[in-house]
Amino acid sequence: MSKILVTGGCGYIGSHTIVDLVEHGYDVVSVDNLSRGFGEMNERVSALLGKKILNYTADLSIMSEARTVFEAHPDIEGIIHFAAYKSVPESVEKPLMYYQNNIGSLLNILQLATEFGVKNIVFSSSCSVYGNADELPVTESAPLKEAESPYAHTKQIGEGICEAFAKAHPDYRVVLLRYFNPVGAHPSAQIGEMNKRPENLVPIVTQTAIGIRESMTVFGNDYDTRDGSCVRDYIHVSDIAHAHTLAVQHALQQTLPSNCEVYNLGTGEGVTVLELIKAFEEVSGVKLNYEIGPRRAGDVIKVYANNNKARTELGWVPKHDIVTMMQTAWAWEQALAAIEANK
Ligand code: WQD
Repeated sequence: MSKILVTGGCGYIGSHTIVDLVEHGYDVVSVDNLSRGFGEMNERVSALLGKKILNYTADLSIMSEARTVFEAHPDIEGIIHFAAYKSVPESVEKPLMYYQNNIGSLLNILQLATEFGVKNIVFSSSCSVYGNADELPVTESAPLKEAESPYAHTKQIGEGICEAFAKAHPDYRVVLLRYFNPVGAHPSAQIGEMNKRPENLVPIVTQTAIGIRESMTVFGNDYDTRDGSCVRDYIHVSDIAHAHTLAVQHALQQTLPSNCEVYNLGTGEGVTVLELIKAFEEVSGVKLNYEIGPRRAGDVIKVYANNNKARTELGWVPKHDIVTMMQTAWAWEQALAAIEANK
């Protein structure tokens, strides 16, 4: 049973990936300093799986702390590296903190991977590396545009570091996964995104629907799209999670086309903000209180994936549609409300 280290294992995508890895027979160790992740998430994942998942609260940007995890588990065969700050507006406000943490952690992870001979590495990247792509759907060979934020820039730099690492270490395998817009929650409603002050659309929609927020704003409906609101490729977090399991499996089995491959993780379908809101209202039966406001600076107008490469090379097939994404997001928000009520 191969042991996989999941960094950022108490975060949204990290926790869902741990569930998928264990369900597919992997042994998992998590590291998360809980600066953005939630300790409670580790308990929830362990309860959901019926087995304790170890989490180390090491700060991976500090080499001595990062090394303790590898020393405790010299049998790690693969690493899935999620641990990073990911707030676009916060990265604009505090760029140095983003570069120090996101790049520093990655450099330590790669250094330790060579020291401990961990030859299979999956890096959490983002569709934000594309910026406003010239052609849609966007393929992995699309040129990367100037990053819209220091956060997106740390992902572009991270990809470049991983590519250089793979060139220097031909016996190591690196997979870069570019997420589009991860949404929804595990069908059990036992785990999901925990973020009291979310910036992303779907948790803002569900917080508005449940009454945590009075109302929400649609940032612009005067774009050149079918209904004037921005288009995104929303992808269920469980589909994203399973792509990581497949990526690790192919790296371990050495069945990737080369020792450094990049894959888009999106459904391939573009959905507008207003279409998503409509889908949510139909699923939840809740009339959402929103108004149309001004555009948000830095917003890409339209982006959605060509996911053929992940389908053919990883055997990845996204299974959840926008209805399930809204259903699970809503069920999780209601579960969170019940947790809060019982505190
Ligand atoms: C989606 C759409 C908003 C909130 C972000 C990160 C990106 C990646 C995915 C990590 C946009 C609109 C939003 C609101 C709205 N994350 N919106 N009202 O910006 O596409 O991408 O998540 O890899 O790096 O930037 O996601 O959910 O913030 O916005 O109208 O209150 O919803 O304008 O069109 P985004 P988002």
